[in-house]
Amino acid sequence: ATATRELLLSRIRDVPDHPKPGVVFKDITPLLADPEAFAALTGALAELCTRFGATKIVGLEARGFILAAPVAVSAGVGFIPVRKAGKLPGATLRQAYELEYGTAEIEVHAEDLAPGDRVLVIDDVLATGGTAEASLDLIRRAGAEVAGVVVLMELGFLGGRARLEPALRGAPLEAIIQL
Ligand code: PRP
Ligand code: MG
Repeated sequence: ATATRELLLSRIRDVPDHPKPGVVFKDITPLLADPEAFAALTGALAELCTRFGATKIVGLEARGFILAAPVAVSAGVGFIPVRKAGKLPGATLRQAYELEYGTAEIEVHAEDLAPGDRVLVIDDVLATGGTAEASLDLIRRAGAEVAGVVVLMELGFLGGRARLEPALRGAPLEAIIQL
C-alpha cells in the first residue's frame, strides 16, 4: 500500500501559480497517462468500494468522472454522474454549494438513485469539502444511503474533512494520499 502511494504521488505534478498566483495546482494527468499508476489507483479505489459495501458509484464532474468510471467497471457496480447544473437532460435533483467567490450547482438524474442504494462518492481532490458535501445532500435527498467518500488526494490544510464530518453521518471518508 505504501509502494502504491509512493508511485501515485510520484505521478502527481505540482503546478505553481495555477489557476492563480499563490495556488499550487495538483495535476493528475501524468498519473492518468501511466497505465501502471492508473491501474494501481483503480484497484485501490475498487477495493474500498467493495469494503464499504457500495452498490453504486457517484463520480463528480469533471475529474471525478475519470477516476470513478473505471472503478465502477472494476467493482461491478453502476456509475452515476453528478454533473455541473444544466448538463443532464432528464428530471434532476439540484444542489447549490459555496465556492471561494459565489456559488455553483450540481445535479443528478433523480431516477439514478433510490432507497436501498448504497452510494460511494469518488473524486480526485477534497479541498474545502463543498463539492463532496453537496453530493451527499443529493444522495440523501434521493433517499439513498451514503456508503462513503473516497478521494485520491486530501488537502488537509483546507479543512475539508471537518466540514464534511456532519454530512458523513458516520460514513467513512478515505484519502489515498494526504497532503
Ligand atoms: C475541483 C476538484 C474537486 C473540487 C474540490 O473541481 O476536482 O471536485 O474542486 O474542491 P472543494 O473540496 O473545495 O469543493 P472543479 O470543480 O474545480 O473542477 P473539475 O471540473 O476539473 O473537476
Ligand atoms: Mg472536480
